[in-house]
Amino acid sequence: MITRRIATIPGDGIGPEVIAAAIRVTDACLAHSEVRCTWEAMPWGTEFHLAHGRTMPADALDQLRRYDAILLGAVGDPRVPDTATLNGLIFPIRRQFEQFLNLRPARLLPGVRSPLRAADQRPIDMVIARENTEGEYANVGGRLHAGTEGELAMQTNVFTRRGCQRIMVAAFELARTRRRHLTSITKSNAQAHSMVLWDDVFRDVARDFPDVATSSLFVDAAAMDLVRRPWDFDVIVASNLFGDILSDLSAAVVGGLGLAPSGNIDPTRRFPSMFEPVHGSAPDIAGRGVANPIAAVLSAAMMLEHLQHVTEAQRLAAAVDAVLSGGSVRTPDLGGTAGTEAMANALVAALPTP
Ligand code: NAI
Ligand code: MG
Repeated sequence: MITRRIATIPGDGIGPEVIAAAIRVTDACLAHSEVRCTWEAMPWGTEFHLAHGRTMPADALDQLRRYDAILLGAVGDPRVPDTATLNGLIFPIRRQFEQFLNLRPARLLPGVRSPLRAADQRPIDMVIARENTEGEYANVGGRLHAGTEGELAMQTNVFTRRGCQRIMVAAFELARTRRRHLTSITKSNAQAHSMVLWDDVFRDVARDFPDVATSSLFVDAAAMDLVRRPWDFDVIVASNLFGDILSDLSAAVVGGLGLAPSGNIDPTRRFPSMFEPVHGSAPDIAGRGVANPIAAVLSAAMMLEHLQHVTEAQRLAAAVDAVLSGGSVRTPDLGGTAGTEAMANALVAALPTP
């Protein structure tokens, strides 16, 4: 028996709802295997912030370091500024644990209608490899003369050769395991420093992967092409901001945020990686038991895969495919009436027996 110690950060809004469902489905999946997960919930996020003035404790990273992986719901609540919750929890974890590879797969699952008509005939199956530790989210800058007429804000983008290199190498390696096509997202026509470095490094790294076909797209053109021809994309490598924006678009194209999983991965495995749905805390539907837990369940599947429990990960994904293609159990975001719990029950019932 292998036991994996997982730290969960259920967080705010629908976070706890979808994490509870993901744990239940994952445990049911693992019951037939040699793997067990122990789940330890960290009570961090908005309530913690209201009580202690910070989103997680000062020694949070030391606590997390001891786990095999982290499963996060979402943080964010109208009562606390988003900058406090995100900069006080998600971004420090991603940066300090060098989770420089943010993997955001977008695959049109069986039984799911894309909002794009032509998608009925063509499979959509892409992965965005988003740089996750620097770039536009480096949190370097400041405000001067706050609150006055002369107020000034500076937000600096930080691009390093090492940072570009390591995300691009990871993206090329990923492309090698798939259809061997990598698209780099750039804006070097307007961002003449940072994005020109990005392009230079992409060209350099590409030389080491002659078996992978490459293309380069300006981010605005990419936004258009993700709607016009999403089936043509295999792996996409993008900076922190561009990857963030394009991954909501790629999620929408394959059925919405309720289905979109992600992993914040340290490929060197020095630190625990963190898995989370792409969506946020969805305050508009929180507390009503209607959130779609599939994004969280698929994030748990990505976590199992990262921990090298590939068969178990595939069984979780197979349950999702079975329920979606069955079509009778759907949450409201997919046009149905089932709640989070009913969806979790259906997923448990659909788990393939080994
Ligand atoms: P959001 O992703 O929470 O919601 C966008 C829309 O999608 C809403 O209409 C919501 O109801 C719907 N939605 C999202 N997940 C769903 C699910 N599982 N099932 C059904 N419908 C779902 O993004 P929004 O509204 O921009 O942000 C809300 C809060 O979440 C903010 O405080 C934001 O900062 C935070 N946030 C946190 C993230 C994280 O923890 N990683 C990521 C994105 C946003
Ligand atoms: Mg986002």
